[in-house]
Amino acid sequence: MAKKFYQLSPDERIDRLTVSKDTKTALKRHQSRQNSQLIENYISDYNLPLGLLGNLIVDSQGYTVPMVTEEPSVVAAANNGARLLGLQGGVTTTSQESLTTVGQLLFAGVNADDLADFVVQHRDEIDDAARRAKSSIYRRGGGLVDVTVRSLPGQRTSVDFAIDTQAAMGANIVNTILEGERSVFDPFADRFVAAILSNYSPHQVITAQGKVAVADLGGQDIARKIAALSDFGGVDIYRATTENKGIYNGIAAVTLATGNDTRAISAAGHAWAAGDGQYHSLSHWQLSEDGTQLLGELTLPLPVGTVGGAIGALPSAQTALEILGNPDGRHLRGVLVAVGLAQNLAALKALSGEGIQAGHMRMQARALALQVGAQPDEVGPLVAALAEAEQLDSAVAQQKLEELRQHESQNSNPFRPS
Ligand code: MEV
Repeated sequence: MAKKFYQLSPDERIDRLTVSKDTKTALKRHQSRQNSQLIENYISDYNLPLGLLGNLIVDSQGYTVPMVTEEPSVVAAANNGARLLGLQGGVTTTSQESLTTVGQLLFAGVNADDLADFVVQHRDEIDDAARRAKSSIYRRGGGLVDVTVRSLPGQRTSVDFAIDTQAAMGANIVNTILEGERSVFDPFADRFVAAILSNYSPHQVITAQGKVAVADLGGQDIARKIAALSDFGGVDIYRATTENKGIYNGIAAVTLATGNDTRAISAAGHAWAAGDGQYHSLSHWQLSEDGTQLLGELTLPLPVGTVGGAIGALPSAQTALEILGNPDGRHLRGVLVAVGLAQNLAALKALSGEGIQAGHMRMQARALALQVGAQPDEVGPLVAALAEAEQLDSAVAQQKLEELRQHESQNSNPFRPS
């Protein structure tokens, strides 16, 4: 019987693709045994650039921060924001002391009061079931911390399990404990709907605060504009979404580098941003009373870990954590929220000054150069040539590259008349 697609080897899957021979060879060249075990239907590795934020000061400690991103301006902007914040001593962070992740058992057609009574009467069994399901997390000092019952519209009820997952982000730990709890709730089995971790993470919230001297920003005008722009993020969903996207440019880049779940942190963040019913920016900037400083604050949930999940399986995640100095979860969260604040500051500063396009286009020129086939040693000269161009698109880049090559071949032609 013919093998199913998922039963094929990576090379066999590639051979079934309708792509050129060169593409097949390139795909096969970028395989790794490690990654081939991580996902279904693996064919090859997908490379993204890893860059560094050189000096981020968080709670008086300096960090070199690895960032993985495809967006050309992100690393430069993060460095710019971190440098400005660093001039005033860097970012300080505050966070809840004990962090828990919530898992839900969902029931339909059941009275929440009945479930609440049941939880009170069976609390010991519930604790025992959690311990049996995941004894290793108890050995590491974590485990089930609290069980609460929430009544939802339409006779729906959620039993929420707050679980301390220690250094792990903990999706697997939570889901394993929830599975273990199902048998305890057997009397409600016919009304049970699902057991799943919740990515809403109000118990993992962290705040970063930082300041910038108005003089370092270039004066009162720009500082006032940044504060005015920040206010839009508090009242306008269109602006708030873009501002939060910018914040996650940095946070997601470090999350990805460290092998954490980028979707979990952004889902948690956007839900938090809409927590009071109106979606708003996660940050706020304002002038100090004496007008000499711009004060910034960013608050968001960060469900990340330093062990577990893909972190242990991805050598590049281990490398990223090593670059960061192998932080524990609390310090990693501090770095992430500080990167978000730095990234946000750089974006607001650019928007309030020369505008975002100038800087973006300078960085975009490199991507364009690669896109039209410039070799690594041609990228620099081509980007310089594109800086002079009135328009920046692939046709212009192609033409400039051809001109550059013509010029080069004339210059290197030994028979060229001098
Ligand atoms: C671009 O990736 C991010 C920004 O749009 C963020 C913002 O507008 O605050 C520059």
